[in-house]
Amino acid sequence: MAFPVVDTEYLKEIDKARRDLRALIASRNCAPIMLRLAWHDAGTYDAKTKTGGPNGSIRNEEEYSHGSNNGLKKAIDFCEEVKGKRPKITYADLYQLAGVVAVEVTGGPTIDFVPGRRDSNICPRAGRLPDANQGVPHLRDIFYRMGLSDKDIVALSGGHTLGRAHPERSGFDGPWTEEPLKFDNSYFVELLKGDSEGLLKLPTDKALLEDPEFRRYVELYARDEDAFFRDYAESHKKLSELGFVATSKAKIKDGIILAQSAVGVAVTAAVVILGYLYEVRKRAK
Ligand code: HEM
Repeated sequence: MAFPVVDTEYLKEIDKARRDLRALIASRNCAPIMLRLAWHDAGTYDAKTKTGGPNGSIRNEEEYSHGSNNGLKKAIDFCEEVKGKRPKITYADLYQLAGVVAVEVTGGPTIDFVPGRRDSNICPRAGRLPDANQGVPHLRDIFYRMGLSDKDIVALSGGHTLGRAHPERSGFDGPWTEEPLKFDNSYFVELLKGDSEGLLKLPTDKALLEDPEFRRYVELYARDEDAFFRDYAESHKKLSELGFVATSKAKIKDGIILAQSAVGVAVTAAVVILGYLYEVRKRAK
């Protein structure tokens, strides 16, 4: 599918969609599942074959019916309400914008959002997203395949500060933190505390304590929320742009508009100046 033309009109629609998403997330209390949708659309990326990634393909039944995506149809339907009002915006941009807004409205860091992703109907095979029952080597296999780092793995796992697991979706149950609608560093604080009544720790969460490189970041983020927010915003941006080279089309198109406006201003100025000179000369005669 074609790249969207990111001109001033498109950027305006993005702004409006951002507001629509804020309202929708507030009224449905659905920040966690919107973040999960953005992550599951993006997290299929394979850096070698340049396939998968944040391209909206998760909207197709073939992909959302993968076991790992259980429950996400709900978030896809929520986004469809915004898409109905803002048809110009690609699904790929919309899902990533939803993830960014979900983090922002729950008190998390501001994440830079660059629009221009194109949609795809090519669905990756099942099995590209992480399996919560596995450990350190699996986490590295999956995230390195996307082209992400150890730091990204730990920072992004902090996304579990939001939401909960549902037995009917994943077989796991419960939230990771006491306030699952607040984006903060409590996921790491709880992880270091060890098992506690009513709070969930997936085997992949616990794996972050086993590896010294991972653990270094867990400890840092538990004691320094600013460091977590800074790294999370950076890693989330990377995740949301996997395989996406921000097309210069946006700039080119706006550049053309700017250039056109500049020419317009110059021509108008020339006409005014010439008119003025003509008047002055006429009066001097
Ligand atoms: C590191 C590997 C990861 C594994 C194995 C994993 C696994 C899971 C599982 C099993 C659930 C429960 C689903 C349910 O029952 O509803 C879940 C929920 C969630 N995950 Fe992850 N996840 C991982 C990484 C991430 C990342 C990178 C993010 C975002 C940056 C994220 C965001 C979420 C959110 C927000 C929820 C809660 C959804 C809700 O409340 O409906 N996860 N994850």
